[in-house]
Amino acid sequence: MSTPPKTVLQASEAEAEAIREAVRQADPATLGPGRALAEMKHVPGLVALLADERVSGPIYDLPRPITPDSVARWVAERQAERLAGEGLLLVTLDEAGEVAGYSHIAVWPERSSAELAGAIRADLQGHGQGGVGMARSFAWIFEHLGVRLMCLTAALDNIRAQKGIDAAGFRRMGEREVVRPDGTTRASVYWELTREAWVKRHRL
Ligand SMILES: CC(C)(COP(=O)(O)OP(=O)(O)OC[C@H]1O[C@@H](n2cnc3c(N)ncnc32)[C@H](O)[C@@H]1OP(=O)(O)O)[C@@H](O)C(=O)NCCC(=O)NCCS
Repeated sequence: MSTPPKTVLQASEAEAEAIREAVRQADPATLGPGRALAEMKHVPGLVALLADERVSGPIYDLPRPITPDSVARWVAERQAERLAGEGLLLVTLDEAGEVAGYSHIAVWPERSSAELAGAIRADLQGHGQGGVGMARSFAWIFEHLGVRLMCLTAALDNIRAQKGIDAAGFRRMGEREVVRPDGTTRASVYWELTREAWVKRHRL
């Protein structure tokens, strides 16, 4: 289950509706090459990607166990979430058309907030691609979805993700216990970044 930020913003009805509409209309191609909305045809590729613990192990809000059924249900739920303007599940396809990564953006329009989770295939990890992809995704979420706040969590031992998040300018705000779909909890490093801080960092 995705978890909204510790900081509670209140969006006006108009702001929340604008965010919902931006989510429904968002074009993943503007995020980068090979990006697409996850559909049922991607389920086998997502199962192959997520069955690898090096990919899915560090991510708390994925269905468990990873099976064709659980992943198909997860994709269907995320498709419904998009229609409600409350989230996007994206895949990254490599040159062969295989699923080489995914991103899930959870959005809380009435709080003008979003959370990002994602992963890339094990053979692609550790070569700089994920760090660049994370920074691009943060920018895209602020610019294209219009939220004013983002939050992120990472497992205490996930140094790679922590480095990428720190480098993008997110502010560490202690730890947080996140809840997995099976009800178990995980201690995590917790960060937030406001759009204002992001704009200052990237435009000045
Ligand atoms: C997290 C993830 C997206 C990062 O992408 P990546 O391409 O592997 O990471 P990068 O190569 O861009 O490296 C990010 C930082 O970690 C550092 N790093 C890379 N490999 C490392 C390692 N084995 N140990 C410690 N640091 C490492 C890099 O030097 C870089 O730091 P820098 O910006 O200071 O140079 C990717 O590893 C992944 O999908 N992991 C599995 C799922 C996951 O953890 N998702 C995030 C949940 S919050």
